[in-house]
Amino acid sequence: MASRITTLEAFNAELERIQARAQGLVPEAGDAAALEAARVELVGRESGALTALGTSLGSLPKEQRREAGQGFNLVRTAVEAALEAARARLAAASGTGALADPTMPPRTSWRGSRHPVSIVLDELEDIFRELGFTIALGPEAEHEWYNFGALNFPADHPAMDLHDTLYLGAGTLHHGDHAISLLRTHTSPVQVRTLQSYAPPIRILAPGTVYRRDFFDATHAPAFAQLEGLAIDEGISFADLKATLTLFARRFYGAGTRTRFGPSYFPFTEPSAQMEVEVDLGDGRGNRWLEIMGCGLVHPAVLESAGIDSERYSGWAFGMGPGRIAMSRYGITDIRLLYDSDVRFLEQFAAC
Ligand code: PHE
Repeated sequence: MASRITTLEAFNAELERIQARAQGLVPEAGDAAALEAARVELVGRESGALTALGTSLGSLPKEQRREAGQGFNLVRTAVEAALEAARARLAAASGTGALADPTMPPRTSWRGSRHPVSIVLDELEDIFRELGFTIALGPEAEHEWYNFGALNFPADHPAMDLHDTLYLGAGTLHHGDHAISLLRTHTSPVQVRTLQSYAPPIRILAPGTVYRRDFFDATHAPAFAQLEGLAIDEGISFADLKATLTLFARRFYGAGTRTRFGPSYFPFTEPSAQMEVEVDLGDGRGNRWLEIMGCGLVHPAVLESAGIDSERYSGWAFGMGPGRIAMSRYGITDIRLLYDSDVRFLEQFAAC
């Protein structure tokens, strides 16, 4: 048919016919097979209508070829764009396409899930809530006095070293009377803020992110979650600490779980201890002792720095890392997995 086209009128009429055909055919294509049939009919190398028309360009009178060629190119470009748009539309609808990352699982099978640290944190909070603890929050940008000074750190304590603490630009931000000068290295400053704001009896739980200048490797992260606990009342002793934390461990790790307390050191507790639980991490090595938190009786100097009478009141505090606890519970051996947002990792917690 195309070989009989020798005039510009006939050429343009055929071009219009193909354009109208394409406008009906391409947007209607409901699946990849229909789209491929349309592509072959329109621009297929052997029998496509546009392809054939293109070969007749040479049969037109010389002075008409330029105009005919320009119209032809416009239509061919529009048809190819419409085919490409239809391909993208079908690919998006099926969740598999040239635009999708080929290493990802098909989108239709992605399942939303909670992050393992959030799952663990919720559970920890539920257990302590039942024991009468309420949630308290504090700022992540903190003043040195709350992070260190009020917590009885001596002025030359190594934790305050630039190598461990992320300091903010000096004197640029203010919170109350104190210039904010660092990112908190632990959630313990929330102890001080709570003691300043509330009268005993106090039982609070302070979850939050803390920051340290640290490597980012399999066992260290420069920003991680902590969960702080604080209980203040008249007549509180180390026996209360042991009883409460052992009850917590049995709720979280299982009824028969054994705990033990060993000596430790923190400037803001005296005596200081670390609590270990006996757990089977499911790695074939059987039961073993795992240190899960630091704790101790609140140092009288901390109570006094917040204006609480340390002769009348005493209390205990603990700090633990929900990230490490999540790792122990789920057998995660590289802490970086908690930060990667890799759906192949995260979707494994959909059932939790
Ligand atoms: N703040 C301590 C830490 O970061 C943990 C802790 C909290 C210890 C409360 C004792 C009491 O490691």
